[in-house]
Amino acid sequence: MQSDNIIETVGLTKRYQRQKAVDDLSLTVTEGEIFGFLGPNGAGKTTTLLMLMGLSNPSGGTARVCGLDPTRDPKEVKRLVGYLPENVGFYGDLNAVQSLEYIASLNALSPEGLDRKILEMLELVGLEENTGKKVAAFSRGMKQRLGIAEVLIKDPKVLFLDEPTLGLDPEGAIRFMELVESLNRDRNITVLLSSHNLYQVQKISHRVGIMIEGRMVASGSIGSLAEEKFGVGEKEYSLEEIYMKYFQEV
Ligand SMILES: Nc1ncnc2c1ncn2[C@@H]1O[C@H](COP(=O)(O)OP(=O)(O)OP(=O)(O)O)[C@@H](O)[C@H]1O
Ligand SMILES: [Mg+2]
Repeated sequence: MQSDNIIETVGLTKRYQRQKAVDDLSLTVTEGEIFGFLGPNGAGKTTTLLMLMGLSNPSGGTARVCGLDPTRDPKEVKRLVGYLPENVGFYGDLNAVQSLEYIASLNALSPEGLDRKILEMLELVGLEENTGKKVAAFSRGMKQRLGIAEVLIKDPKVLFLDEPTLGLDPEGAIRFMELVESLNRDRNITVLLSSHNLYQVQKISHRVGIMIEGRMVASGSIGSLAEEKFGVGEKEYSLEEIYMKYFQEV
């Protein structure tokens, strides 16, 4: 493995009965990169993320995350990777501060300086005005922000974000992506971002991969994919147009 590949899979495969949800996937993500993980419903994106977290066992192939095998070292991988799943679960009876205290205790974080850290996280995600409100009374966007605060409190090296802006209003989605971009820039957090919001993905990703029916049909910079499909650079075509071209040709 090259040392700057923070995620690397070789021939990663997941079979459900006869169907291959992920089929011979070779994916590399470099440290410090935002990688947009694209593909239609049912392509195998979430299944891939689950295998990378050690939450689902591959049927074949290998995966390494931060140099670790998620099947063998799931605990260590979970310590280093912040995973924001498609549907984040919360205890509605807790407020934002209590939710973060609970997550901190689950992750055995040191109580020293924890109160300050919790406030810092809530400020980072823009929830500092809502510290006392019960999560049950949060809007979807507020829950999503709390979800990312819960993920960030353990200082992850890598973030796996599965459709993080689904159901957010346009402003909320833009703010969320700006937050992801600043976490990448200021804290050097590597991001694997699965999203159908191609406009936002194009704005912040360094590279993208397009998965269709379990197979990665293209990966590279958006410019290189535009070049491959249209013979011209990224400026002429949107990611949506490039994506549709790959999609139609499969
Ligand atoms: N637990 C399971 N048992 C059987 N089949 C499954 C299971 N989980 C996923 N699949 C199948 O694997 C395929 C890939 O699903 P996956 O959830 O990874 O897609 P996805 O790319 O995340 O899609 P979406 O964009 O809709 O979230 C689908 O055909 C799905 O039906
Ligand atoms: Mg999914």
